[in-house]
Amino acid sequence: MSLDAVSAAELIAWYAEMGVTEALDETPHDHFAAAPEPARQPVARPVAAAQPAARRPAAVAAATPPDEAALSARALAREATSLDELKTALASFEGCPLKATAKNLVFADGNPAGKVMIVGEAPGADEDRAGVPFVGRSGQLLDRMLAAIGLTRQEHVYIANLLPWRPPGNRTPTPQEVAICLPFIQRQIELVDPDILVCVGGPSAQGLLGVSGILASRGRWMEYDTGRRMIRAIATLHPAYLLRQPLQKRLAWRDLRTLKAALAAP
Ligand code: URA
Repeated sequence: MSLDAVSAAELIAWYAEMGVTEALDETPHDHFAAAPEPARQPVARPVAAAQPAARRPAAVAAATPPDEAALSARALAREATSLDELKTALASFEGCPLKATAKNLVFADGNPAGKVMIVGEAPGADEDRAGVPFVGRSGQLLDRMLAAIGLTRQEHVYIANLLPWRPPGNRTPTPQEVAICLPFIQRQIELVDPDILVCVGGPSAQGLLGVSGILASRGRWMEYDTGRRMIRAIATLHPAYLLRQPLQKRLAWRDLRTLKAALAAP
């Protein structure tokens, strides 16, 4: 099929809109058809299942069993005793379908010894290409926001995402994708053990803090249980949202001042 220049430009624009942002080859390949069956992951057995039925807590016995991928994620995450091990575990995990369409695993950036851990939603196209979180336009805004309160990712801040793989076309992750990846980011927070957790954007706040409605829940101190201790946590607006709604930067600025005051307090 040959196209005139206008139709070809329209077709390319439509592809870009649908999330097809990279030309890899002259002819299309169905990578899903070609891909081998994903390796089965070890499936964790809930601790309660190993107990005699009579001693099993009623809530656990009655709960709907989480699906196999989420159980497998939980088992792998729990086994990792360092960030390096966790990254290796994630790289070998085949339970999340986003891995098949992403170019790179986007694990983290910044200083794991910093006092603040920031968790965004999921990598975008730039992050997927670089394998590093928040390096695109919203990442540059995030760096400027942090610099405004004297923080840098090199020294003070560790950055990760709720999901370590890019959803195609930057679509919002499905609840199932979030449920599958959640044990990994929870373990990452536990291993980093920051003083303060900052969730940027609604999906991060909902996934980690259980709050919905980012405009209503932002700027309030909450508690997050790392698995070892309770830490302070706060939700704020996502820089990508601020790029679209610059007037809302005043709210983000309030949240940043709240964060700065907490860091300065003894
Ligand atoms: N948005 C996110 O939530 N995370 C990134 O890493 C980039 C953009």
